[in-house]
Amino acid sequence: MIKVPRGKLSISITTFGICVLAFIALLYNETISSLSSSSLLKFKTCSRKTPATAATTFGNIVDKNIEEDSDEVEEDNKLEFDPDICDITDGKWIFNTSTEPFYTDSSCPYLDKQVSCIKNGRPDSDYLHWEWQPDDCTLPRFNSKQALRKLRGKRLMFVGDSLQRGQWQSFVCLVESFIQDDKKSMKRGAALSVFRAKEYNCTIEFYWAPFIIQSNSDAHIIGDPKQRILRVDSVAEHAKHWLDVDILVFGTYVWWMSGLKLKTLWGSFSNGEEGYEELDTPVAYRIGMKTWANWVDSTVNPNKTRVFFTSMSPTHTRSEDWQRMDGIKCFNETKPVTKKGHWGSGSNKQMMNVVVDVLGKMKVPVTVINITQLSEYRIDGHATVYTETGGKLLTDEQKADPSHYADCIHWCLPGVPDSWNQIFLSFL
Ligand SMILES: *[C@@H]1O[C@H](CO)[C@@H](O)[C@H](O)[C@H]1NC(C)=O
Ligand SMILES: *[C@@H]1O[C@H](CO)[C@@H](O)[C@H](O)[C@H]1NC(C)=O
Ligand SMILES: *[C@@H]1O[C@H](CO)[C@@H](O)[C@H](O)[C@H]1NC(C)=O
Ligand SMILES: *[C@@H]1O[C@H](CO)[C@@H](O)[C@H](O)[C@H]1NC(C)=O
Ligand SMILES: *[C@@H]1O[C@H](CO)[C@@H](O)[C@H](O)[C@H]1NC(C)=O
Repeated sequence: MIKVPRGKLSISITTFGICVLAFIALLYNETISSLSSSSLLKFKTCSRKTPATAATTFGNIVDKNIEEDSDEVEEDNKLEFDPDICDITDGKWIFNTSTEPFYTDSSCPYLDKQVSCIKNGRPDSDYLHWEWQPDDCTLPRFNSKQALRKLRGKRLMFVGDSLQRGQWQSFVCLVESFIQDDKKSMKRGAALSVFRAKEYNCTIEFYWAPFIIQSNSDAHIIGDPKQRILRVDSVAEHAKHWLDVDILVFGTYVWWMSGLKLKTLWGSFSNGEEGYEELDTPVAYRIGMKTWANWVDSTVNPNKTRVFFTSMSPTHTRSEDWQRMDGIKCFNETKPVTKKGHWGSGSNKQMMNVVVDVLGKMKVPVTVINITQLSEYRIDGHATVYTETGGKLLTDEQKADPSHYADCIHWCLPGVPDSWNQIFLSFL
């Protein structure tokens, strides 16, 4: 499908000096299990690119649904909120104790241990009461019935890594309590997990592909990032599971950030995996993203399928980023950063620009759920030590050692990813 001129690849070795060390430390210490289970990605954004087209193409479908149950139409039409105009990336978090999450980690049966912070003993709860408020417009609250109505007869699929999985679990939990027990089901699989709402004839699915493109660390996760080899020009094995999906939400970032160089393969080599090339992270990412974009452009019919991309989910492993010199990563943080435009070392602008470039050249409109800035503020939203490692809750000794065990990549649920879905729904 994609033709990558080899010469070009080997030439483009640019300097890339970010918080790579922090990531190495994370990926080694924080264990793959934290990266492997839970949490979907984040998106942030503003359908900067062809939003009008996207909205128009999808408009018909949405209208039809509204006709079908006009009795439920009520207040959720976007009277004041216009996703084409509102920039949801600029705004602030508002603390409001009367805002309750739609679910808890006890009420929603589908949450992984990895993100069930309260169940796992997180003592503070202020992080549950923040609402994202864009400066220029009012973001509608998440409306579960409206969400189900929009999904009627459709397949929604989140594709990506454990952060995308978090977004998927958040979405399922945001709607599931509106469905009777005998009218819903959940089937978890190694690669594909499917939540089904029978009376709406819809599914909300998650497909595991941490790099989106293929690698030797997809089905069987390889703990040591140095052993991972990315097939930057191959996506077909994963993409065959994405056919006939009506709404696709992609995201991939943190898995790319394991070190300075990534081992990559493209084309076919007679010496197989031995023939890898080491590429700088943004270069490998660009080729991988391009491979994905080519698949979308050549396969997706934009009249039938909507495509979203969740922008990178920030990690908060350097407390110096928010001027807490004596902090231990994001451990013990209970309030968001309030400094406007705060941006830490866990969100790589060069990687973000790769996404902007690649999306900007696509034929099929892709709506960015641009969650990076709003999530950057939420140093208080991560699972920290109220999580698991290798399938087991952290022991008291491990909890007492946050410098090794605090997970500042994944988010508690309920929590920040619920706001990502609030934005996603407002674009849908
Ligand atoms: C706080 O949340 C409640 C319930 O959602 C809402 O009615 C109220 O307007 C909110 N207050 C502010 C200041 O946003
Ligand atoms: C359910 O949705 C699928 C598309 O996902 C459609 O093909 C099928 O006809 C629908 N079934 C009913 C009973 O509406
Ligand atoms: C999508 O719809 C438009 C307008 O109805 C039509 O011109 C176009 O050919 C369709 N595209 C595809 C790929 O079916
Ligand atoms: C974390 O917060 C608790 C409660 O406020 C405090 O007792 C503890 O000393 C803090 N730990 C660190 C390492 O800051
Ligand atoms: C997301 O928003 C930030 C501003 O907060 C912007 O710099 C970035 O380019 C946007 N990302 C994408 C993929 O549109």
